[in-house]
Amino acid sequence: MEITENAKNIREAFEAAGQGQVFKFFTELDSAAQKALLAQAATIDLAELTRLVQTLVLNQHEGSLNLDELNPAPFIPLPENGGDPALWDTARDVGAQAIASGRVAAFTVAGGQGTRLGYDGPKGTYPVTPVSKKTLFQVFAEKIARSSERFGAPIHWFILTSEINNAATLEAFKAANYFGLPEEQVHFIVQGLVPAVDLEGKILLSDKGTIAMTPDGHGGSLRALVRSGAVDTMRSLGIDTLSYFQVDNPIVQCMDPAFIGFHVQGKSQLSSKMVPKAYALEKVGHFCLQGDRNIVVEYSDMPKNLQEEKALDGKLRFLAGSVAIHIFDLDFIAHAGGDNIDFALPFHRANKKIPYINSNGETIQPEDTNGVKFEMFVFDALPLAKHPVIIEADRIEDFSPVKNAEGVDSPQSSADDQVRMFTSWLRAAGVVIETDASGLPPFSFEISPRFAADRLDFLSQWAALEPKHNLGPNVIIA
Ligand code: UTP
Repeated sequence: MEITENAKNIREAFEAAGQGQVFKFFTELDSAAQKALLAQAATIDLAELTRLVQTLVLNQHEGSLNLDELNPAPFIPLPENGGDPALWDTARDVGAQAIASGRVAAFTVAGGQGTRLGYDGPKGTYPVTPVSKKTLFQVFAEKIARSSERFGAPIHWFILTSEINNAATLEAFKAANYFGLPEEQVHFIVQGLVPAVDLEGKILLSDKGTIAMTPDGHGGSLRALVRSGAVDTMRSLGIDTLSYFQVDNPIVQCMDPAFIGFHVQGKSQLSSKMVPKAYALEKVGHFCLQGDRNIVVEYSDMPKNLQEEKALDGKLRFLAGSVAIHIFDLDFIAHAGGDNIDFALPFHRANKKIPYINSNGETIQPEDTNGVKFEMFVFDALPLAKHPVIIEADRIEDFSPVKNAEGVDSPQSSADDQVRMFTSWLRAAGVVIETDASGLPPFSFEISPRFAADRLDFLSQWAALEPKHNLGPNVIIA
């Protein structure tokens, strides 16, 4: 009786919101499928969805993106590009102390669908290293384990999944025995899903008893951290700082002491790494200053003349590209991921081809864009943050994502970049290696993240290593 009453309420709420079509095939479903559909429907925030449909689908009003008076956001340059080496040394010490005190956790967002890569499984289980084919999750786990050993403190790792890949992600960690990390230091958080709608704003069904839903974007990670109770868990563990990175980037420095140090010293709520754009129209977000706030303007929104504009020194004026690597202050996450709607991240629309069930109950695989998915972007937190810090990163030490099956940002380009990075570390240690003009040697080899998590770590580890490896095809320095 109670269930029936509840079912009636849910269906009435959907009718009232103009979304009654969700239950069009309800009477054809068996009772288990009916219950499942009602349970799924009950997870949907109809007020939020109605607002999104009104603002982003029916009125096509993309938030409040205002491109007035954009200036380049200031950043701290690397020592080799004019930064003060003493500042970097101090930051590194401060960051090392913060990690050693146990207050910094790693945070990986891995809730995306990875459609461009076209791999059937959570992206973190994709093999990426050039020789041993370690998966992305294993690479991060080993970097975290190495940092923990190096700084003498446990490092907790929080991983964002979504309903779509959570079970498979957990299974992969269990099967790999958490890649050697203590199980109680690895935490999974499931992010929210939002319904996908057609171009009139009507919720789509993926089959007669299932609503088509997609993860709410990497920006949804903030509210997922709050709603899941992870923020409270972190507080109870004495964690107040999160090192944020995306699951698709195997060369990221998961625990970068200098970055963490600049963040702590600057009392920053949200810090970011920038890399100089490789060319004017590179498809990256641009760090900009608008009034007294930092914002990221996507390449698609940035006027071409600004993307190409040169400064007096001949460099691009808007040079700073975003690579989705951040440090967050936990109180800031509690605020930005909380329920205060005035402080919430905006949603964006993405037009997609979304398979659906039409009103005759037939499955349609659309050839053109037929629907909209809603996503939040993590960089939209930037203008909300006090004292934001941006530091320069060397692209080869931090950013080579696996996004596409082939070509740019693919498994091959990322494996090559890993070899280039390892080669540059060895050269910095005085080892002679022949390479082509791009820095790639004629053979593949690998440095295990368990041996060294970054360049400076490698230099001290290599100096102490006896006997040293002879380099050659498929050698693994571990
Ligand atoms: P991308 O924007 O590359 O999206 O995500 P994606 O879903 O992984 O891949 P495509 O676009 O379908 O090919 C960048 C990072 O943000 C995470 C992803 O897992 C990846 O680490 N992400 C994205 C989430 O955690 N949740 C989301 O809802 C979206």
